[in-house]
Amino acid sequence: MAGLKGRDILSLVELSPSEINLILKRASILARQKRVPQRLKGKTVAMIFQKPSTRTRISFETAVAQLGGHPIYLSWNEMQLGRGETISDTARVLNRYVDAIMARVYSHDDLVVLAENADVPIVNGLSDKHHPCQILADLLTLIQYKKHLKGLKLAYIGDGNNVCNSLLIGCAKTGVSIAVARPLGYGPDPEAVKHAKEAGETSGASISIVEDPLEAVEAADAIYTDTFVSMGMEKEKETRLSTFTPKYQVNRELLSHAKPGAIFLHCLPAHRGEEITNDVIDDPRSAVWDEAENRLHTAKGLLSLIL
Ligand code: CP
Ligand code: NVA
Repeated sequence: MAGLKGRDILSLVELSPSEINLILKRASILARQKRVPQRLKGKTVAMIFQKPSTRTRISFETAVAQLGGHPIYLSWNEMQLGRGETISDTARVLNRYVDAIMARVYSHDDLVVLAENADVPIVNGLSDKHHPCQILADLLTLIQYKKHLKGLKLAYIGDGNNVCNSLLIGCAKTGVSIAVARPLGYGPDPEAVKHAKEAGETSGASISIVEDPLEAVEAADAIYTDTFVSMGMEKEKETRLSTFTPKYQVNRELLSHAKPGAIFLHCLPAHRGEEITNDVIDDPRSAVWDEAENRLHTAKGLLSLIL
């Protein structure tokens, strides 16, 4: 293991299975501590947002504060970025002020430019391609509910989006088999599928991409869904809703085809009545609130290891 100090976290591709497990272990220790070690004392973390956020912004801001550091929330349009200052120039300047940069952007390539122009660690707070911090929280939730990861099966139903791409990689690396059910033309990034299949060969996780949600949920320990209309895709809303509903909606009927004891996961925000019904998200089998809480614990785990 090369060590996580100073590392960029743009996706889970760059993290080895043992590095992922290390972050999860650190996160679960920090989750149990009332007073956490002040590992970020004297350190500043800039958080740039090009899109809205509730969980990512607040969990990271709180994580930095609890670790004794200073978080700065920066809205893309309120910076000179919004008036055309280049990302590379912005990165070079922030590099002189702060100890890490977390960014939520439309294009994943913008994160790559940030990383190329700053020595401080860059953390992906969601891009069009990946959402690694979310998946760390999802994996921690699976551990809390199922006591282990290896050998579990997760079914992802719906859009093959950023969350789906990162889930494929995170599950495959930690030995969780994953079946994705999506309509044709809405599948995950082929690169993410390729990475997942390679990782699955070592971990023993199986990776399948199917069309039928019933096939995907068979023997699943967890069912996961996300919005059919990700941020930036609002123009496609009508077409997407008519393509995905009702077949790809997670409802009680679909949940009943998973394993007894299967849990329900969603990165949130949920679009109740679209990808998920009220009775499932509010069911006792829904782990979504613990999953949201785990964003805080995994943010602390990650930051305390990279800084
Ligand atoms: N799950 C997640 O990333 O939520 P936010 O968009 O609220 O940050
Ligand atoms: N796939 C969603 C996730 C939101 C947290 C989006 O990109 O909008």
